[in-house]
Amino acid sequence: MNFKEKIIVVTGGSSGIGKEVVKCIADYGGFVFALGRSPDKFHYFDSINKKSSGEIIPLKCDVSNYENVEEVFNGIEKDSGLIYGLVNNAGVNPSRNNILNTSIKDWEETIKINLTGAFNCSKFAIKQMDENSKGSIVNISSIAGLHGLQKRVAYSSSKAGLIGLTKSLAIDHARNNIRVNCICPGYVKTNLVNEYLKNLNESQYELLVNSHPIGRLGSVTDISNAILFLLSEKSSWITGEVLSVDGGYGLGQPVYEK
Ligand SMILES: NC(=O)c1ccc[n+]([C@@H]2O[C@H](COP(=O)([O-])OP(=O)(O)OC[C@H]3O[C@@H](n4cnc5c(N)ncnc54)[C@H](OP(=O)(O)O)[C@@H]3O)[C@@H](O)[C@H]2O)c1
Repeated sequence: MNFKEKIIVVTGGSSGIGKEVVKCIADYGGFVFALGRSPDKFHYFDSINKKSSGEIIPLKCDVSNYENVEEVFNGIEKDSGLIYGLVNNAGVNPSRNNILNTSIKDWEETIKINLTGAFNCSKFAIKQMDENSKGSIVNISSIAGLHGLQKRVAYSSSKAGLIGLTKSLAIDHARNNIRVNCICPGYVKTNLVNEYLKNLNESQYELLVNSHPIGRLGSVTDISNAILFLLSEKSSWITGEVLSVDGGYGLGQPVYEK
């Protein structure tokens, strides 16, 4: 994989899956902007920058804030050049509930960050990709967006929306060599799900693991490998694709023995 001289933005680049993607892009020589709301989470990158052939530039940005996104993306172009790649990875899940117990506040926060955030970033990235007649966007949806998940009404809806966004952007911008793809991860141990996993009893945890027929939860590397492929020119004839990276979860059949 080679990202030399490529400018790439990763939203939610300060932890979990996003952090791993940022690190790998820099290792492959890319110039990567890691966006997040909390600058204190970025200190981790100081040591990594010294070892990488590329460069990591952390930027404070709330993807749900249109004006903030416009300012940050225009600033990247002005200071560094045109964006080649975007990973819409920032995501939250404030409410694990059915519709009756989902507050309008949690619904709006989830849609605003997970879906409108990707709209905002894609809009300003595509403006720059258009100028270059080249670009690659990878949206991070979820098994929840493809299959629905019990008591995740806001999260599942936001993630299903990302699949629609992926396909619309892919068809609108294909002729200008801008590719847009989507990844649907199964469960990966990150801050987003750690609390949920901690509260499962032993048999609930076992059922969850067995629902991924490969027999384990995912790692951030499992997901970042797929993101890097779709972001890179190795996938230059793939667009509008929705790729499950879920240890077989989508097969819909828990496996208990070999
Ligand atoms: N872990 C899983 O099992 C799993 C499964 C399927 C899909 N996913 C998806 O994978 C993506 C990454 O999640 P993760 O598991 O790596 O969780 P994570 O460790 O909690 O990372 C989420 C990232 O999003 C950032 N973020 C949240 N709101 C933001 C905002 N308004 N503006 C900018 N950045 C924001 C967070 O940083 P700040 O809070 O500092 O802003 C953080 O860097 C999410 O879209 C998630 O839905 C995860």
